[in-house]
Amino acid sequence: MTSDGIPILSTDGITKAFGGIRAVDRCSLAIQPGKITGLIGPNGAGKTTLFNLIAGLYAPDEGTITLRGERIDGRPPFEIVQKGVVKTFQIPREFRNLTVLENLMVAYPGHPGERPLSALIGWKRVWDREEEVRKKALDILSLVELDQLSDANASDLSGGQKKLLELARSLMVDPKVILLDEPLAGVNPTLTGKLLGIIEGLRDRKSTFFMIEHDMDVVMNRCDRVIAMHQGRPIAEGAPEEVRHNELVMEAYLGG
Ligand SMILES: Nc1ncnc2c1ncn2[C@@H]1O[C@H](COP(=O)(O)OP(=O)(O)OP(=O)(O)O)[C@@H](O)[C@H]1O
Ligand SMILES: [Mg+2]
Repeated sequence: MTSDGIPILSTDGITKAFGGIRAVDRCSLAIQPGKITGLIGPNGAGKTTLFNLIAGLYAPDEGTITLRGERIDGRPPFEIVQKGVVKTFQIPREFRNLTVLENLMVAYPGHPGERPLSALIGWKRVWDREEEVRKKALDILSLVELDQLSDANASDLSGGQKKLLELARSLMVDPKVILLDEPLAGVNPTLTGKLLGIIEGLRDRKSTFFMIEHDMDVVMNRCDRVIAMHQGRPIAEGAPEEVRHNELVMEAYLGG
């Protein structure tokens, strides 16, 4: 496996078995900072399980996961979010009874409303913090062009707008690495372009994306690097064109 520079995130020999199935099998890979890395592979290759391991939803049976030099394997999901790794669907679904703006505000780590003790630090400080969180939420909403809808009820958004809301909510934690599991599934072409534009804009501002995607046009045109996975581990890695024409990758897809 080739990789240039110091990775922001890496896995070393991680395994996760479900009964007799090794969904992820001694998987080692590295993600470069400030890039969009695509993760491809046939159904059942272990892509989602790999993301769940990175996000802390499962602990690996063996192997290590390292974020900027620090081991994170086996840490609980909330701690991994705090360290800067978010998986979009990891933050709970939108709260239907809250407005779009409120949905972002409650995604903020340690939001005052989450902490009974916050009352003890004084109302003035709680209020200032609330204002700070509100401002951050509004900035993110304009980035994803949902600012016009900030007071709308989240349940009134279209399916596509909910995808934007979900991305916006994950940005509230200032993530360093954003894991996207098929973010474009079921999204119409206009919104696909918009979502990809936002992702590329964030990448240009140094965010790192690791994205599972089945649409080869998107993978070829939008990803900086691609990792192909089969039977629980990477079988190819490199520039999109290289990986696409890799023999092992073609065989993996033909073999089902
Ligand atoms: N919670 C689970 N319990 C049992 N088996 C599981 C579980 N999660 C995944 N598997 C199995 O592990 C293997 C890898 O599944 P995974 O969902 O990670 O693949 P994937 O690459 O994301 O596939 P797809 O492209 O279809 O989303 C599959 O054989 C799947 O059936
Ligand atoms: Mg999957």
